[in-house]
Parts: sequence; C-alpha cells; structure tokens
Amino acid sequence: MIRNAIVDDAERICELVKQRTVLRTGSELGFIEYPEHSVSWYGERIQQNKFYVVEIDRKVESFLSVYDDLRLDEFVGDQVVDWIKKNIESPFSYFDLLAVSKEFEHCHFGKSLLEYGIMRASKVVGAVAHSPKRNELPIRMIKKLGFELQEEITVYNGLMFGIYVKS
Ligand SMILES: CC(C)(COP(=O)(O)OP(=O)(O)OC[C@H]1O[C@@H](n2cnc3c(N)ncnc32)[C@H](O)[C@@H]1OP(=O)(O)O)[C@@H](O)C(=O)NCCC(=O)NCCS
Repeated sequence: MIRNAIVDDAERICELVKQRTVLRTGSELGFIEYPEHSVSWYGERIQQNKFYVVEIDRKVESFLSVYDDLRLDEFVGDQVVDWIKKNIESPFSYFDLLAVSKEFEHCHFGKSLLEYGIMRASKVVGAVAHSPKRNELPIRMIKKLGFELQEEITVYNGLMFGIYVKS
C-alpha cells in the first residue's frame, strides 16, 4: 500500500537511509555518503513536505521525499541543492530520496512511488550519482518517466551528479 508518510514513520525512514547509504569506494550502489540525520530531522520534514511510503505488513519498506522548491532552504550545506537553487528556474518540485529496503528490491516499489509522487507535479528536478559510481537503475527509471539530463555537476570533493529535469 502506498500512503503519505506520518511522523511515526521517521525512525524507519531514517533506518532505510542508513541501510542504503554507501561510500564512494566499493561496488555497492545507493546514496553516496549521504549525511546522517536524526529521527527528529526526518520527522520535521515529513510534516512540512511530501513524503510517500510503501507499507507491507505494517512495515515501511520504501519511501520517496519530494520538496517544493520554496522549501529548499532547509537543506543547509547541501551542495547539490545549492546548485539546483541557483540554476533551475522556479517553480519546481525536487525529489530528494528514493529508497527500497534491500529485502524488497526489484518489486517495482521504487517505480510505483516515483509515479505516484511525481507525475502530478508539472516540473520536477532530481539528482543521481554519475561518478565515481553511476547509479544506473534510477537513471533508467527516471528517463522512462520523461526526465532528461540537464547538467553534470561536480560537488563534495569529486562526486559527480547528473541533474535530471522533467518539464
Ligand atoms: C533505486 C531503487 C529505489 C530502485 O527501486 P526498486 O523498487 O528496486 O526498482 P523497481 O523494482 O521499481 O524497478 C524499476 C525498473 O528497473 C528494473 N530493474 C529493477 N532491478 C533491476 C536490476 N537489478 N537490473 C536491471 N533492471 C532492474 C525493473 O525491472 C523496472 O523496469 P521495468 O519497469 O521495465 O520493469 C533501489 O534500488 C534503491 O533503494 N537503491 C538504493 C538507494 C538509491 O540508490 N536510490 C536512488 C538515488 S537517486
């Protein structure tokens, strides 16, 4: 079942981010060196933005977070978001995190959440790692949904991200 997230989901969402965060070295794909945030950090964001989850047997197994561009000031020190704020014309929605628990990969949860959370917005922006590891699966997924690569940016001392936009 897909539903809007509630504050009580923050702990599990925080856990999923940790589970899917990887180093820039090694072969595992995921959120490259994404900063660790507290459960209350996620709780506050759930209240003010669009977080969607997939729940299976009362457990959250996948989530997507989407922000209106006017809320991007919440991302203090996020170099990807800083670039997007400076270079993409408002109004747009920004999808930040999409994760599926390892146990439920390849069950189409990721694709379903993206379709559910994003297709209603008129202009959507997202960033996906290109180097040193190219996160091919989400790139293929968002291209199928109509996103196009707008720019490659280098941030955080050598990480390269593709900035994808769907208009
Ligand atoms: C990226 C991620 C969210 C994908 O979620 P998912 O639920 O496993 O993906 P889906 O099952 O919805 O698959 C979407 C498409 O990719 C295909 N696919 C899934 N796994 C695949 C694999 N290992 N190899 C090739 N294709 C694959 C699916 O068949 C589907 O294509 P289709 O519509 O033609 O059938 C998940 O792998 C994840 O959480 N990764 C770690 C965090 C991350 O990197 N997030 C993205 C950052 S932008």
